[in-house]
Amino acid sequence: MLFTLVSAALLLPWCFGQTSTPDLNNVTTAFSSAHIVPDVVQSFNPMDGVNISFTDPVSAQTVDVVPGILLTMQQTSMPPDLTLVTTTSDSNSSAMFVVVIVDPDAPTPQNPNVSEFLHFLGGDFTAGSTSGLLSNNSPALAEFFPPTPPVGSDPHRYVLLVFDQPDSFDVNGPTLVNATTPRTNFSISDFAQAINLGDAIAGNFFLVGPMNASASATPSAPPSTPSIPLASSPTSGDTLASPTPTSSATSPNTSPSSKAMKARSAISPFTAAIVGVAALVFQL
Ligand SMILES: *[C@@H]1O[C@H](CO)[C@@H](O)[C@H](O)[C@H]1NC(C)=O
Ligand SMILES: *[C@@H]1O[C@H](CO)[C@@H](O)[C@H](O)[C@H]1NC(C)=O
Ligand SMILES: *[C@@H]1O[C@H](CO)[C@@H](O)[C@H](O)[C@H]1NC(C)=O
Ligand SMILES: *[C@@H]1O[C@H](CO)[C@@H](O)[C@H](O)[C@H]1NC(C)=O
Ligand SMILES: *[C@@H]1O[C@H](CO)[C@@H](O)[C@H](O)[C@H]1NC(C)=O
Ligand SMILES: *[C@@H]1O[C@H](CO)[C@@H](O)[C@H](O)[C@H]1NC(C)=O
Ligand SMILES: *[C@@H]1O[C@H](CO)[C@@H](O)[C@H](O)[C@H]1NC(C)=O
Repeated sequence: MLFTLVSAALLLPWCFGQTSTPDLNNVTTAFSSAHIVPDVVQSFNPMDGVNISFTDPVSAQTVDVVPGILLTMQQTSMPPDLTLVTTTSDSNSSAMFVVVIVDPDAPTPQNPNVSEFLHFLGGDFTAGSTSGLLSNNSPALAEFFPPTPPVGSDPHRYVLLVFDQPDSFDVNGPTLVNATTPRTNFSISDFAQAINLGDAIAGNFFLVGPMNASASATPSAPPSTPSIPLASSPTSGDTLASPTPTSSATSPNTSPSSKAMKARSAISPFTAAIVGVAALVFQL
């Protein structure tokens, strides 16, 4: 009897730790050693984990991000699936989140004179009650723009942050970031402060290096950026992370419609117009 009680008392926290507490030490340490603190945020004390999962559109292989992993442009050319890894006590299926991806190394880590480059900003995300999969039903303020670091650059850091969404976000967010807002010279810290996002509750990051292919002998041609189907304009009601994520994921090249991308991704596609202009000027 006593043994049972003691065992239960010892096992309980251990079980919780194993099954439901995300490993936040790794990502917190990685944020510091990669100088994301203080380059992007002044401090980082996450409550939750966020997993990033890309699908390589050519190989159809899934790539799970561990903090600081080095990926290729091809692997990261499609919007990723995002999973919030919460502790049991703070999971709340009706809570809403703002998700952002920024590059503090644009155009190069040595001279990031247009950083941050805004790669994604969207609100109204909810986490699936059992899966934790982040999805939303509203258009992003800035649709996903795939990493395109310029030839010769060292790998860039791509930092994803999740914030609790204040009630005022849908009113105030678009006044600061919308389709006309440049993606260059963005500051997530300033944005967060301006609309009271508070500190990030979760984060993760990956690196992407350029394709140093000798094939790009004609430097005027951007190195096949981005290698994904260009979506038409981001109409309202993007069906993000619809519950049928796999069917089109294996053959995006045979069905290059924005619908196909939307059906498999947690983040809606970016606009062709913005990519066309920005990719010529900067490769980020
Ligand atoms: C945490 O970091 C250690 C050492 O770098 C690594 O062995 C381990 O797999 C990491 N755990 C996770 C969940 O990423
Ligand atoms: C999140 O990612 C970590 C590291 O890759 C993995 O160990 C863990 O199982 C993932 N959790 C979920 C809920 O996907
Ligand atoms: C869950 O989130 C909703 C929306 O933010 C909030 O109104 C509610 O109080 C939260 N519930 C708990 C138990 O925290
Ligand atoms: C910004 O950085 C790029 C790449 O290092 C460099 O080519 C460019 O001259 C810089 N521009 C300014 C205004 O410093
Ligand atoms: C491309 O070259 C840069 C600079 O030499 C290097 O830092 C980077 O790792 C290279 N990328 C790849 C994918 O080899
Ligand atoms: C769009 O964002 C810009 C800042 O980039 C802001 O000046 C403008 O007022 C916003 N437009 C709307 C309709 O809120
Ligand atoms: C970005 O900011 C730099 C100064 O940090 C400025 O020189 C440059 O003109 C800005 N670029 C844009 C596109 O706003």
